[in-house]
Amino acid sequence: MKVEIRRMVGADVAQVVAIENCWDYLSKWGEEGYLQVLGKPFLFCPLVAQVESSGRTSPGGAGTLAGAAVLALMVDHGELCNLMVPPRYQGKRVGRLLLAHCLEVARQRHLTRVFLEVRHSNQRAIRFYRRNGFRIVSRRKNYYRDPPEDAWVMEREAPKDPLPTGGSDVLKGMDVLAR
Ligand SMILES: CC(C)(COP(=O)(O)OP(=O)(O)OC[C@H]1O[C@@H](n2cnc3c(N)ncnc32)[C@H](O)[C@@H]1OP(=O)(O)O)[C@@H](O)C(=O)NCCC(=O)NCCS
Repeated sequence: MKVEIRRMVGADVAQVVAIENCWDYLSKWGEEGYLQVLGKPFLFCPLVAQVESSGRTSPGGAGTLAGAAVLALMVDHGELCNLMVPPRYQGKRVGRLLLAHCLEVARQRHLTRVFLEVRHSNQRAIRFYRRNGFRIVSRRKNYYRDPPEDAWVMEREAPKDPLPTGGSDVLKGMDVLAR
């Protein structure tokens, strides 16, 4: 299976919400939340992984999605607000590819570090982030609701080197983000 990483567009939102709803424990942004994110390109970089040959590509959207991620662009660091791969595509490196593109966006924006929060009980995600260079730096008491739970804060440096070939396509549209 090949996937293309590209920017999220409005036509993707219904599928992204469906992916979000695969897990009870994920904070729910819903359609409204993702539309707000799309309306603030100076603050958020929302990406999707689209299964190749599954439909039109950007800017129309609407192909089959195998995952989504949202990186918040702060002044000097990035915050990975969201990264999810639906069960049928898990374990196929889609998560790693989405994360690599988020890190490349951070690098291009000269953000020095990337942070994220993850539930204490989300062992699969914690393992995944550790394998991808993140380390636990602190704990946030009762950070989550439904169900209530502490968060680990994880961080890593943004990469120094550009993503090898394959990452360039998603970044073509990113010049609108340049400050
Ligand atoms: C955490 C998450 C994003 C990882 O995405 P993913 O596409 O499954 O991850 P990858 O395939 O890139 O990596 C998973 C690793 O587990 C291995 N793996 C093997 N079988 C697997 C399976 N059935 N499911 C998941 N991973 C499996 C992969 O080989 C890979 O190992 P590697 O990096 O050493 O090669 C995904 O599991 C997910 O969406 N989880 C639910 C939402 C969530 O909790 N998000 C994080 C919120 S902070």
